[in-house]
Amino acid sequence: MTVGLMMRVLVVVLWQVYPAYLVSPNPLYHHQHQHVTQGVMMSLPPSLPSTTTTEPLNTTIKGARSAVKATTNILATEHLTDCHLTILTEQHPLATLVAWDLSSALHAHQGFTVQSLDEEVLERESTWRRSVCDVYVIVVVTGTEFVQHANHSHYHTSLTHALWNYHAHYLLLLLEAYVEPSDMARLYNLAKTESVLILQPHKDGQQVLLWSHTLYPPTAAPTLLDSWRSDNFQRGNKFFPSQLDNLHGAVLTVATFHHPPSVVYIHDDQHEELVTGRLGVDMQIVQTLSQALNFTIEFAEVSHDELWGYELPNGTWVGLVGKVYNEVADIGACNVFLEMHRWKQVDYSAPYNFEHGCFVAPSPKPLLNWQSPAFPFSWDTWVSVGVCLLLGGVILRVLVALSCGAEPREFTSLSYSYLYMLGSLSTQPMELAPRTLSVRVYMGMMWLAGLILTTAYAANLVAFLSVTLMSQPVDTMQQLAMSGLQLGGHAFWTTQFAASIDSTVRSFVNRLETEIDLNALFDLVEDGHFALIENEQYLEVTVGARYTQGGRATIRVVPECLPTYSIGLALQKNSPLKTHLDPVILRLVEGGLVLKWRGEVLDYFKSLYAGTRTSRVANEGFVTRPLTLNQLQGVFYMLVLGYLGAAAFLSLELVLYSRHTNSLSHHVH
Ligand SMILES: *[C@@H]1O[C@H](CO)[C@@H](O)[C@H](O)[C@H]1NC(C)=O
Ligand SMILES: *[C@@H]1O[C@H](CO)[C@@H](O)[C@H](O)[C@H]1NC(C)=O
Ligand SMILES: *[C@@H]1O[C@H](CO)[C@@H](O)[C@H](O)[C@H]1NC(C)=O
Ligand SMILES: *[C@@H]1O[C@H](CO)[C@@H](O)[C@H](O)[C@H]1NC(C)=O
Repeated sequence: MTVGLMMRVLVVVLWQVYPAYLVSPNPLYHHQHQHVTQGVMMSLPPSLPSTTTTEPLNTTIKGARSAVKATTNILATEHLTDCHLTILTEQHPLATLVAWDLSSALHAHQGFTVQSLDEEVLERESTWRRSVCDVYVIVVVTGTEFVQHANHSHYHTSLTHALWNYHAHYLLLLLEAYVEPSDMARLYNLAKTESVLILQPHKDGQQVLLWSHTLYPPTAAPTLLDSWRSDNFQRGNKFFPSQLDNLHGAVLTVATFHHPPSVVYIHDDQHEELVTGRLGVDMQIVQTLSQALNFTIEFAEVSHDELWGYELPNGTWVGLVGKVYNEVADIGACNVFLEMHRWKQVDYSAPYNFEHGCFVAPSPKPLLNWQSPAFPFSWDTWVSVGVCLLLGGVILRVLVALSCGAEPREFTSLSYSYLYMLGSLSTQPMELAPRTLSVRVYMGMMWLAGLILTTAYAANLVAFLSVTLMSQPVDTMQQLAMSGLQLGGHAFWTTQFAASIDSTVRSFVNRLETEIDLNALFDLVEDGHFALIENEQYLEVTVGARYTQGGRATIRVVPECLPTYSIGLALQKNSPLKTHLDPVILRLVEGGLVLKWRGEVLDYFKSLYAGTRTSRVANEGFVTRPLTLNQLQGVFYMLVLGYLGAAAFLSLELVLYSRHTNSLSHHVH
């Protein structure tokens, strides 16, 4: 038999015994808001001392009553009475009494719910539902269940949903000294909630102490804000001071790593490992935030194997996201893309920048130049020329044989006919000229065709020799998929590929190799084995700085990129910092500072490589260069081919001639 059911039975009995309840508004069942939860409602055992009893009250009860008055006073001064108010009260006579008093004091206001502080209610999502403004008054005597819940129901223990409302105002009434304010303030969820007040009646029953917790540093003890005595607050402090608008120099840890141009480390000249400064938009943002909110930055270095981080097979997160998720760092800043997968581990600030994800692939290679003599004509032109030559020789020989007039003796040789044809096609001056009209007309036409062919070939050959021909560059994702290049990049991209609506990009999921150091990967791209994916500016800066020689880059960013990502800071899940950082970030973006910083760091980076670049610029330009042997090698190959052909025919002739002379001498004998 559950307690809840017993309560409900009791309520029904009460309603029948006192029909007046049906007429007068019942403070406990004040359903003004539609969203008031249907659940275990508290009702009060009739045996409790009521407000009207005249018997002298002991100090515990007096203290509890003062706490109620202090609470209603706070709610009224902070204008919280119109909020959605939830009173959670423990199943203890004293707590129930306080809940009763609170209900009667508040019943003139908007709807509120009174629920018992037990596991069933705490584990219910509707208890923690968020509206524009929520207030929880938690009445605690032993506090066991509440402590357990507040310390364990967060995203580290259940990734689906933390059963807590981090944006609500909390008023904790600690009625007896089982739990101390300092224990309460350190509970996980309370340490992430900005608006928490702890009320503790003093033993003398006269005053109520008002404690406020400190979020940063998390180890700080709660501070005594005020005390309630003889129906008044003594100091008149603000009840919910906005402690995150000024962190008073508290240390916040920022996880980051060198990743130009977002984060550029400046190293000491003597000691390479010593970092003397950090530049880049992300660092400027963090530094400006530290000035605006008055906190001190401590850097947590992320290893270059892990970068933004990924999940190990055993579920541990590493890298920048891991540092923030495991609460080693408060802020992660290094070109963090705002996307859904890592959002389970971290929260994001407002975006301040945007970027593409792009591939970098090997630059197009110069084509092998032995082919260059063949480039001026397309293959079908070459075939036509070949056919012309093949038929031309035979036709000439047949014409000469059939013609009536006498031609020079040479024309009766087929091989001479071919040579003559080749000569006329390549406009060589020929000593012999045909005599008969038919052959003359034929050859005249041949010479005309030869003139056009050679002129066209010569002109085009000059054009092809003076530019270096390149292989087809990788311009699209489709070409990349066909290119046979291996793909490398951070593990993050696997999730992005998998979520893509483009089937080509989705097919990259299984091809992406993630276990490779980025620096080594660039060299593999240069060697022509890999294509690497990273954010566009990083690629452009790296290509410009490390892979550009003589004005020509050896690797090249593929023009077709993944869609744009927003960039923000990574914050701990439900971090109270978010609501304070976001307005500052938005102001920085709207003020144009982000664009300015971006330009500055790019200029700085360019100046680093300026010395090497000027000498390169001098070397390039559109100066006419002499043709290199490399460009002309095809011609020499043809010569060598000619020598070899001639040598082959010579040896053939020699063999045939010696046979001929042998047979002749044989004949003589
Ligand atoms: C005051 O009364 C409550 C309930 O009537 C009792 O539990 C408590 O022990 C009393 N406290 C003192 C100090 O007498
Ligand atoms: C809250 O949880 C932390 C660790 O999760 C633990 O160290 C601490 O003792 C807990 N506090 C209480 C009051 O249970
Ligand atoms: C920032 O914090 C330091 C250290 O507590 C304090 O001295 C300083 O006055 C604060 N600055 C501002 C502008 O509040
Ligand atoms: C997961 O594995 C890593 C290294 O393989 C280890 O450092 C870490 O402690 C492991 N985490 C858990 C929860 O077992």
